[in-house]
Amino acid sequence: MLSATHSPHHLFTTGQSVRLKKGDNINNNYEIIHLIGTGSMGQVYLARSLHTQKEVAIKILTSQNCTTLLKRFDQEAHILASLRHENIVSILDSGHLPDTTPFIVMEYIHGESLETYLAIHHNLSWQHCVDLMLPVARGLRALHAKGFVHRDLKPDNILITSNEPQQVKLVDFGVARNTNKNASLAITRAGTLIGTPAYMSPEQLFGDEASCRSDVYAFGVIFYELLTGQLPHSADSIQMLRQLVLKQVAPPKIPSGYPKPPKQLVDLIIQKTLIFTSSDRITAEELVHELLVLKSYAYDTPHDLSLFETLSDLPSEGSITQSFDRDSLLATTTEHISKADERLYKEYLNKSQ
Ligand SMILES: Nc1ncnc2c1ncn2[C@@H]1O[C@H](COP(=O)(O)OP(=O)(O)O)[C@@H](O)[C@H]1O
Ligand SMILES: [Mg+2]
Repeated sequence: MLSATHSPHHLFTTGQSVRLKKGDNINNNYEIIHLIGTGSMGQVYLARSLHTQKEVAIKILTSQNCTTLLKRFDQEAHILASLRHENIVSILDSGHLPDTTPFIVMEYIHGESLETYLAIHHNLSWQHCVDLMLPVARGLRALHAKGFVHRDLKPDNILITSNEPQQVKLVDFGVARNTNKNASLAITRAGTLIGTPAYMSPEQLFGDEASCRSDVYAFGVIFYELLTGQLPHSADSIQMLRQLVLKQVAPPKIPSGYPKPPKQLVDLIIQKTLIFTSSDRITAEELVHELLVLKSYAYDTPHDLSLFETLSDLPSEGSITQSFDRDSLLATTTEHISKADERLYKEYLNKSQ
């Protein structure tokens, strides 16, 4: 089994030209310092508030000629404005550039994404992983309590501050969904695949509506990746990933020599988050509680080191040993499900009933 390679994707532009440059003045309120990141929707810049002299992050939408993207950008601002939580990035302001490009101003998170963090730090202890993921679970709990689903939870959308005390914050609510029934914005048509394939729940991979439990699945994928350095399913196409998920192929064993986490943590990931049927997954609220218990273990109890036994010892049917193009499954995707394999979709429907 190949271990996944991590690359800070956001440092690469997706063919979009850099829209703003150092010294640009935004509506007499902010001055651009430099580009921080480029994602599927926009560009994020470090800037300085001309009023407070504080650093801020400004996200601009780069493709304005798409109504759906404009709606999503508006929705991101709306969701952030209705959430105030220490593990969710704060929005400070929003507006339009003179050419009508919309932007949002956020607190600047000085640090790095979990994606970059993973590329630098290998062999994290399980206690360290719990410390990183408990705030993610708390952020999700707050998000879900308001009726929102993130839908694109992945290491690139989790930021870690470099100053002490280290903080962990969720960003990028660009494809988030409002589950409130009377929500006026229903941006995504049923049957649309949205998110990042490598972190997608089975229901998202097959174009069904994402729920809060879909975020819990993504949480499980990230946690597994933190502990092992690899994704639970190594596939180089969405089709292959769908097949592995449908077969409910067990994630591969942890390579020997790895710091082994307690059975409770393994069970939490494998049996309570990475579950095919969404209603069988735990909630973010329960995740927080389970992680708090594990955290208390980490300090109080000598832990059982024989743990990854609960993972399948079978040669994993789904293990792909040839070179694996992880990047193809790592970008935020919006694709209509009609491209999916019909036969697999029927199988999915049978299994999910
Ligand atoms: N508030 C912030 N502070 C610092 N960096 C940020 C902030 N928001 C986003 N970034 C960086 O910019 C990248 C792209 O932002 P994101 O909101 O994920 O955009 P997209 O929707 O285009 O993926 C992130 O992965 C992160 O590295
Ligand atoms: Mg992003």
